[in-house]
Amino acid sequence: MSTQFDIKGPLNDAAFGATVTLKSGKGARALAAAMKADPAALPDALSAHGGLLLVQGLHEINDDPSLLVTLSRVFGPEVEDYRHTLTNLSSVHTKVPEILLVSNMAPVSKMPPPRPNPPVAADGKLPVQYPHQGGWHTDQSYRRPPPDISLFYAATPVAKDQGQTLFANGTLAYEALSPALKAKVEKLEGLHAQPGTGRSRRAALAGEMPRAFKPHERSQRQPVVRVHPVTGKRSLYLCEGGQMDWFDGPFVGMEKGPHGDGAKLVDELMSHMTQRRFVYAHHWEQGDMLIWDNRCLVHAATWYEPGDQRMMWRTTVHGNPGAAYAGEAKSWIPVAAE
Ligand SMILES: [Fe+2]
Repeated sequence: MSTQFDIKGPLNDAAFGATVTLKSGKGARALAAAMKADPAALPDALSAHGGLLLVQGLHEINDDPSLLVTLSRVFGPEVEDYRHTLTNLSSVHTKVPEILLVSNMAPVSKMPPPRPNPPVAADGKLPVQYPHQGGWHTDQSYRRPPPDISLFYAATPVAKDQGQTLFANGTLAYEALSPALKAKVEKLEGLHAQPGTGRSRRAALAGEMPRAFKPHERSQRQPVVRVHPVTGKRSLYLCEGGQMDWFDGPFVGMEKGPHGDGAKLVDELMSHMTQRRFVYAHHWEQGDMLIWDNRCLVHAATWYEPGDQRMMWRTTVHGNPGAAYAGEAKSWIPVAAE
């Protein structure tokens, strides 16, 4: 029982996640002080509640973005400095380089995903299941070792019924697989591609020729069943369209390409993992912050009116990927000989 926090789960209409409130005080500075006083509480809560925490009312971060980095440091030994990771600088906060800008505003100009068609699911609710809702991924899975945790702050969200972030729980999804499918994926590896390297399903379907990789851009193998280094639980670890390699993958040792047996398995697993019973949909309010564990959750952005302005800030925490990655150099950092 934490002396600093009230932690209540699960999140609205979901089977996992928790809301964090302070026992005394409110706001981002008070949160930072409470996390300093009890640094294990929120990392422990993240593990105990399936890898997703919501904290609201952190508006002070808008005026002092470095607070987001202070909060991030509690979750691991390394908060990524995007100046050193070949990130396009137009997506990096000019004063706080640990913050990645996710926005449709210039100069980032990342447009929202397409609106699902039809715009509501068969049950009348927001669509969540693949392929009706697309773009499911876990952050930076095209790197080895992949990151642990992301923090995402709503500096300027859009209308509450648009621009949601969806989370699917890979642990619950793995546990619900049939024994046959569990056996099929147990030793399987996915081939994860960096968006922009021309390896997407769309590019493969269009018959495009992928460009040559530089060594540090190569698609990376990842286990389809990932064992969480803190909880020991197994989770499905998988992306789809833009973040798998649809030329040499999507799976190692299976039929390649967008029409092969590998593609059929991505569709089957992703559709299974994103059933409503495994999903949480977050409807953003200004000042909200979500903390998610990339080792056991996948997420996706939803459509919003492209003319509306949205600005979200993300940090990425690295350092505890698990024994499978022990001693590995960072795949995404070029070596001098390249
Ligand atoms: Fe993401």
